[in-house]
Parts: sequence; structure tokens; C-alpha cells
Amino acid sequence: MTSLLRPLAIGSVRLKNNLALAPMAGITSAAFRILAAEGGAGLVVTEMVSAESIKYGNKKSFKMLELNPGEHPAAIQVFGADPASVALAAQAAERAGADIVDINAGCPVRKVTRSGAGAALMGAPLVLAALIAGAVRCVKIPVTVKFRVGLIAGDNLGPLLARVAEEAGAAAITLHGRPASQFHTGPVDLAAMAAAVAAVRIPVFGNGGVENASGARAMLEAGCAGIAVGRAAVFNPAVFGEIAAGLSGAAGTAPSSAERIRLFMRFLELSAALYGEEHGLARARKLAGYWLKSLPGASGARASFMRLKTLKEARNLLIQYTR
Ligand SMILES: Cc1cc2nc3c(=O)[nH]c(=O)nc-3n(C[C@H](O)[C@H](O)[C@H](O)COP(=O)(O)O)c2cc1C
Repeated sequence: MTSLLRPLAIGSVRLKNNLALAPMAGITSAAFRILAAEGGAGLVVTEMVSAESIKYGNKKSFKMLELNPGEHPAAIQVFGADPASVALAAQAAERAGADIVDINAGCPVRKVTRSGAGAALMGAPLVLAALIAGAVRCVKIPVTVKFRVGLIAGDNLGPLLARVAEEAGAAAITLHGRPASQFHTGPVDLAAMAAAVAAVRIPVFGNGGVENASGARAMLEAGCAGIAVGRAAVFNPAVFGEIAAGLSGAAGTAPSSAERIRLFMRFLELSAALYGEEHGLARARKLAGYWLKSLPGASGARASFMRLKTLKEARNLLIQYTR
């Protein structure tokens, strides 16, 4: 019997394991991706980057393509509905050093779908095929795609879309087991996921609601080649190591409150190194609530954190919680 935790190849890219960080806008910044890689993720993915913005040379979007040595292998995710723009963005991702370029075909947010991108592509398989095939023709790195089991509850578009993706040249798929109408809540449809997996030969990463080894095991036993973890990693970027330990039969224990604060301090150091001390701390403030919520007197700690200006002040505040 093969182990559920295993190295995985996506085209020419070899991953040390089959556990990936799912892309999350506003969260999977470079600092967070390094933390997830250090926490055991075999693959990390950027926030989604607009192909149209890349086409028009938007500086902020180009900044989002920047990768750092500590995070490889890394995928850059792009979104768009125009094959020429997506191909251009895929080339920009390749030039930026991405190991993989991922196409977003699952985002249900109106701002994305109204232009025909994200989850709207699930209702337009020919456009989806053109986007994937166009990108595959223009880059040497593997092209992957992320979509959902359906647009509304009860849909089972997975097998069809998975075949479309495979035929267009995608090297792997990330399949979110909830329909687009459910956004990020509610149960995942494991049977629909298993049907999609069975329809193709390329690896399928299962995604949706995985928080621990038993959740990962259920998707892997349904046939998924790997797992992509989203929100559970936001609260705990070491979750990949825990899942890996659990899948290998060891007791994967959640980090203690002190360990979590040490991880937060590492996140602050990475943010300061990558974005500058002031800007790095400002960016970290958005996530401070998640990190500090388990502390005794969490609201006081959060309020104090919000007033900090330097890394040294942050260390002075947090050190008491790491013992
Ligand atoms: C805040 C947030 C931002 C997200 N941004 C993206 C994104 O940029 N691209 C994408 O494909 N999915 C995005 N997603 C969806 C996640 O990748 C993932 O599919 C979803 O959260 C389900 O996985 P989970 O239950 O493990 O969190 C986002 C989800 C959240 C919560």
C-alpha cells in the first residue's frame, strides 16, 4: 500500500510532499508563504494576480509576482478571462521565477466573475480550455488550474472540467469540494471530488475544510493525490507538519500557545525583512487578530500590538507569551 503522504511530481516539478498551501488573497503574501514552507508545505501559492493588471503594467500586481528563495517550489496564481492576457501573465510569472503557474477558475467573488474570470470559467469550458492551452504554449513551467465541484449545490461539473483541463495540457488540478455558491462554508462533496479524480490521470489536490490529518486522509482516500490547505494554515502555518506527522502514523499535535506566538514573531521578522519594518508591521496588523486570539487577555494584547511601530517593541510585547 502506498503511503498517503508522499512526494509528488507536477510535470517537471518535484514536491517533497503532497501538501500545498491554498492561494488566499490578502493572506498568502511572501512572508506567509515562507512560513508555510517552513511549516512543512510541499508547495506554496501566491494570492491571485490579475492578468489584465499585468498586461497594463500595474506596479502593485508586478510586486505580487515577486518570489523569495525560502519559498520554492512556488506557484503564482493568475486570473483572467482573455487567453492572450492570461498567456502574457503566465510568461510574467515564469520570468519572476515561478515553478508553476496556476489559473484561477474557482473564485466566486463578483469583482472577479463579472469579467468572465474565476468561477465564471466553470460555465465556459471552451474558454477555460483556451486559457490553459494558451498558457501551456507560452511557458515551459507546468500550468495548473483550480476550480470547484460545481457552480451550485448538487452540480457535478468536476469530471467534465477535469477532462477539459487535462486535454488542454494542465499538469495538475486543485479541486475545491464546495460549489461556488457556497463560497468558503458548508460541507465538501467528497463523492463529487472522487468522480473528478477518477476522470483524469493528472494529480488532483483536494481542497476545502481540511484542518488536520483525518480531514486530509478522507480526501486522499477518495483518490486525491494531494491536499491544499487554506484557512487552517492562517491560524497555524505549522499545520502541514502536523498533517504530515498524522498521515505517517505519528501523533501530530497542535502547537501550544507559546509556539504559536513564536511563529507569529517569525512572521513579523519575515514581514519586516521583506517589506521594511514599518510597512511589514502594518501588513501584519491585519492578521494579528488571528494570531493573538488564543492568548490570555487577547483583546488587550491585540490593542497593544496595534500601537507598535518597531520590531523591537513587538518582541518586547510578545516575549512574555513565549515562555
Ligand atoms: C481570504 C481568502 C482568500 C482567498 N483567495 C483565493 C485566491 O486568491 N485564489 C483562489 O484560488 N482561492 C482563494 N481562496 C479560496 C481558498 O484557496 C480555498 O479554496 C478555500 O479557502 C477553501 O479551503 P479551506 O477550507 O482549506 O480554507 C480564498 C479563500 C479565503 C478564505
